[in-house]
Amino acid sequence: KGSSDLHVDPLRVVAKEMKFLTGNIRKLLGSGHPSLDRAAKYYTQAEGKHVRPLIVLLMSRATSLCPQAPQPRRTAAIDTPISPLSILSDVNPSSPPTSPPADTTTPQDILPSQRRLAEITELIHTASLLHDDVIDHSVSRRGAPSANLEFGNKMAVLAGDFLLGRASVALARLRDAEVVELLATVIANLVEGEFMQLRNTASDERNPVYTEETLTYYLQKTYLKTASLISKSCRAAALLGGTDEATVDAAYAYGKNLGLAFQLVDDMLDYTRSNKELGKPAGADLELGLATAPLLFAWKAMPELGALVGRKFAEEGDVELARDLVLQSDGIEQTRALAQDYAEQAIAAIAPFPDSEAKDGLIEMAVKTLKRNK
Ligand code: FPP
Ligand code: MG
Ligand code: MG
Repeated sequence: KGSSDLHVDPLRVVAKEMKFLTGNIRKLLGSGHPSLDRAAKYYTQAEGKHVRPLIVLLMSRATSLCPQAPQPRRTAAIDTPISPLSILSDVNPSSPPTSPPADTTTPQDILPSQRRLAEITELIHTASLLHDDVIDHSVSRRGAPSANLEFGNKMAVLAGDFLLGRASVALARLRDAEVVELLATVIANLVEGEFMQLRNTASDERNPVYTEETLTYYLQKTYLKTASLISKSCRAAALLGGTDEATVDAAYAYGKNLGLAFQLVDDMLDYTRSNKELGKPAGADLELGLATAPLLFAWKAMPELGALVGRKFAEEGDVELARDLVLQSDGIEQTRALAQDYAEQAIAAIAPFPDSEAKDGLIEMAVKTLKRNK
């Protein structure tokens, strides 16, 4: 099939690998301490969308057909068995993180290290959700009570830290310094994005005025909190596959543009969908004082929104007024258009890849990002 067939089911292309994802993640999260074990695995129970590992696996398969780098980047065999880390095995003899399984694949297949990368990506994402739900005082996630509600803030934060720790161990075991650096940077970027989000604009004025910089600040924040993980794990997938620099850069560009489109759609759905449809609280952003893309576009046309942005929609009636103004404006439509722009750039980035089902799957992921409603 060529890339003209846009109706390939992305999940089917990597179904074999996706089937083991949750089980493998749960193995990475085993702890001898029963309540830590329960809290750490909590968000792996409800079926998440697993968008990030799906993208990593599709990227791994699609780039396996691309040109290889002139020289192998490393000589160490990443899959040689590693003796269990003493500290971990002391505390947790039952289930220490394991090395990626031995490589019995053909060159065009997804490598064990790339499968492990997909798991690590989902672990970092899930850790960020555990922390995010504490920060956002969220009460539901994936259609169930949030971890902070179920276990309390302290255990939810610690569970997130534990996920990051186990993700780091698994990452180190890939024995690829550049990939470790990329994913470590992602963790820092998530925190940077979340810090930027504590403010709606670069300055801290009481009555801010909409400028070009307002949207730039929002997009920078969006890159850090969402697109960094997707783009850098796509880059890491190509690196692990040993592809040439142009392919590595294309994988990164795909992930970056898809990640930006993904968050723009997320911010749009917060205005247009119900709690039930999302499986998490809708309309949460204004309640949290956040001015996302739909509001920023509305603000551009209605300067009076500046005062509300400045006080983070904190006064009685602010949230309702802002929501009404956004829905009256073309903010939703402009957000959708910008998301479409990024999705098209994502598709353009991988245009040079040889035709394959996996490439079609990546294209379909970009198309689906725009169509999704949860
Ligand atoms: C979801 O956003 C949250 C994120 C994309 C990232 C959150 C990052 C942190 C809390 C930083 C610290 C965490 C780690 C692991 C380093 P959202 O609140 O807009 O989405 P939601 O509607 O799904 O809650
Ligand atoms: Mg949140
Ligand atoms: Mg948040």
